[in-house]
Amino acid sequence: MKTAFKATLAALTAFSISASASEFSDFYKYEVLNAKKVSKELTANVNDSVWKTVPGKYVYLYPQISVRLNDKKANSLIPKKKLQRALVKVAYNDEVIAVYVSWKDDTPSIQAKYDTDSYADGVSIEVPNKFGKGITLPYIGMGDENHPVTVYLQKTVAGRDYQKVFVSEGFGSLTEIKEKGADISMKYNKQTHLWTAVFVRPLKTENSNLKAGLVPIAFAIWDGKFQERDGNKSLSRWKFIRLKDYNVDKDYLSYVAWGVPYKKLGDPARGKQLTIQNGCNGCHRYDDQKVAMPGLAPNLSDIGGIANAPYLKESIVNPDDVIIRNLNPNRHYNKYAKPDKFKAYPNNDMYKWYTVGSDGKKHSKMPPFAHLSEKDINDIVAYLKTLRNWKDFK
Ligand code: HEC
Repeated sequence: MKTAFKATLAALTAFSISASASEFSDFYKYEVLNAKKVSKELTANVNDSVWKTVPGKYVYLYPQISVRLNDKKANSLIPKKKLQRALVKVAYNDEVIAVYVSWKDDTPSIQAKYDTDSYADGVSIEVPNKFGKGITLPYIGMGDENHPVTVYLQKTVAGRDYQKVFVSEGFGSLTEIKEKGADISMKYNKQTHLWTAVFVRPLKTENSNLKAGLVPIAFAIWDGKFQERDGNKSLSRWKFIRLKDYNVDKDYLSYVAWGVPYKKLGDPARGKQLTIQNGCNGCHRYDDQKVAMPGLAPNLSDIGGIANAPYLKESIVNPDDVIIRNLNPNRHYNKYAKPDKFKAYPNNDMYKWYTVGSDGKKHSKMPPFAHLSEKDINDIVAYLKTLRNWKDFK
């Protein structure tokens, strides 16, 4: 009897382990970058032989269109942009982590020293300064006030090695920092037409500690040919580096893996109807929904590519958690200003996406939709995840 009971228990345990493993298998397959532990020193040398031994994974980057740019010409090029694909590899030792990013570009652009009309190719990675159990994901466009991120940036500017490290709380709020032990390099290969960059930093810095089982990381690429600079770039959603030396927090895993794969999350057709019934299209433009005035709220046309499902859920239920900065830093404040002849939006209240309460706290102009049922929210998120088309961006 006793043995039979034990056997059943063993079978049950085995079942629950495999069930929970399979519950997250799509997440591990599509969203996780497995880092390789090495004992040797890691540097920013893109030709280091270590990279031949580290398996890579492709990450997709979508044009950033949610925040409107102050440049008609650059905006008009957005529909011509292609989905960008980068091969990513990650290695670490006891002290540092190195991230290798390689992508194809048939037209390498190097920004001339004194030319304001030529734009550089470039690449960046960002990591949240805080992450883990109970901490929600930052805004993908370089963080937000509640979720600062550290950004590592390398650009191709003639005559100098243009690399910078920033702490950022969203567009237009970058503070350059000096980070001890951080290094970046970027090289073009004329035969393969590939740019390759390597970022190295200590696992633990003053701003963030990456000694964790799952570390969020996001990627951005600037293509000079499309006049890309600043917020005008291609962007990945949050990906997660798996560092095997550290344990995965179960709660954090359930949080970040929620909604993967989104095709099993809900009914996108019903989700679309719900966005219309709930008036999301009164503020946002997306898909064939084009009634909202551009600039009132982020354009959601390719939000499914750049946003993770748990982030989308929070955006709907608790818009105050992440407040997206859309301040146009090149304009003077003018309450009555209309979009200029380039259709750029001025820095006035109407196009600001938040209000400041009497408590001094920022509140999103988007009302919370926390009253929606779980099924409704799942269907809406399943629908938003299908939005990956920037081609008719206006
Ligand atoms: C009254 C206008 C308004 C309505 C209605 C509205 N939103 Fe928003 N939404 C905003 C604004 C403004 C922001 C940006 C500020 C912020 O971060 O909350 C935003 C942000 C978002 C974001 C984050 C976008 C990004 O780029 O990260 C998502 C997703 C979103 N809304 C989805 C929805 C959905 C789904 C609905 C309907 C259920 C909806 N919104 C209804 C104004 C609105």
